[in-house]
Amino acid sequence: MKTHVNIFTSPQAVAEAFAVFFQKWVADKNTFTVALSGGSTPKLLFRQLAEHYRERIAWDKLHFFWGDERCVPPDHADSNYRMTDEMLLRHIVMPPENIHRIRGEAEPVLEAERYAAEILDIVPLKDGWPAFDLILLGMGEDGHIASIFPDQMQLLDTSKVCAVATHPVSGQQRITLTGKVINHAAKVAFLVTGNSKRQVVKDIQGKTGAWEKYPAAHIKARGDLYWFMDEQAAH
Ligand code: 6PG
Repeated sequence: MKTHVNIFTSPQAVAEAFAVFFQKWVADKNTFTVALSGGSTPKLLFRQLAEHYRERIAWDKLHFFWGDERCVPPDHADSNYRMTDEMLLRHIVMPPENIHRIRGEAEPVLEAERYAAEILDIVPLKDGWPAFDLILLGMGEDGHIASIFPDQMQLLDTSKVCAVATHPVSGQQRITLTGKVINHAAKVAFLVTGNSKRQVVKDIQGKTGAWEKYPAAHIKARGDLYWFMDEQAAH
């Protein structure tokens, strides 16, 4: 794994820079499988892509999946699908069959199994695991990624592709990709902004403090691991 750390002046600058990388990565491949993330910085990225890359990316090469979803219907304010739809999907032209949403309205255990099967159907395997071209991740203030929280570290090692998780504070159920899937991706990119993340970033990068208890510290990509941060998160 190669780690690349890129630091920018603001969350908007992070989104703009990441969009440039994203366009190039997609251009280099015939099909491109990506797992998207919820969170505030991906939201800026999706808006950037919708506003400036509508005509500059061959959207029909892409397969969009999600790294996690809240167990709510797709029109719910908490839905990651809804956020992506509002910010990006409705502004671009993409074959509907290439948009693989997690059905947050379905029974969670059955949906985690169904979604794993959908991933296995589309995403090429490496060493028996689906290997996405790119997995996009935000990081919570508690070091969580996708919906793998510090009190559910077993999701980093499970042999399942998708699992049901519970938000430690709200108790909301989530469906999430698991650690092994994330670690088999060709590229994993963290988009992290804001000073509330600074200490966690510092501990993960320096392997100091409580770094081992942060799910984000256990993420390695098969190929490249990217950190895209603003100065507030990075320094
Ligand atoms: C989710 C996300 C989650 C998010 C982090 C960071 O659905 O909640 O996938 O993992 O990326 O909580 O979110 P912010 O960027 O908003 O801090």
